[in-house]
Amino acid sequence: MKLTFYGHACFSVEIGGKSILFDPFITPNEKASSIDISTINPDYILITHGHEDHVADAITIAKQSGAKVVSNYEIVTWFGSNGVENGHPMNHGGSWSFDFGRVKYVTAIHSSVMPDGTYGGNPGGFIIESDEGSFYYAGDTALTYDMKLIPESTKLDFAVLPIGDNFTMGIDDAIKAADFIQCNKIVGVHYDTFGFIEIDHEAANNKFSNGGKELILLEIGETKNI
Ligand code: NI
Ligand code: MN
Repeated sequence: MKLTFYGHACFSVEIGGKSILFDPFITPNEKASSIDISTINPDYILITHGHEDHVADAITIAKQSGAKVVSNYEIVTWFGSNGVENGHPMNHGGSWSFDFGRVKYVTAIHSSVMPDGTYGGNPGGFIIESDEGSFYYAGDTALTYDMKLIPESTKLDFAVLPIGDNFTMGIDDAIKAADFIQCNKIVGVHYDTFGFIEIDHEAANNKFSNGGKELILLEIGETKNI
């Protein structure tokens, strides 16, 4: 699987020739000014929750690419009322097989409201299972015991976890989350974008390696085979 990081908690993964974009927040992110969103044409856009820092560019990219938007029912309905008709609504605990693999929408402990104040359902994360491998994107969340359920059904090759603290898990809880999900290869997101979530990269890397885990912090625009 090929993962490209677009800053904050936005990334894409290529599986089976399909491109899946997660939580697009690029044009409002000064740190991601090198990214031209007109070049991003995914087949799917997966949205964990309704906050601005996860949906800011989603309507634009959905319209230019024709990508299918996958999220909870309330968020997919909101996209529909904003002219994005190609949507697939889900809710917690549900799975669906798409042409690249199977997607499950799982619990996140956070909040969810759309940028215009519309109710955004309850926040979630995604488990993706495919012929090329499986991964978990937690979305914005606290550490939760529900994560322990994930390895009972899915052997993860990597996971994308928030590590910036304040609004989500910080480093220490992300290490516990890696234990809960039985996955030692963690891509960190949701850090450094703004003041409340700045982290010390070296300290973070040391804590993960002391815990026997790998923390991957990508440059914005960087692509990694994973
Ligand atoms: Ni959020
Ligand atoms: Mn967020």
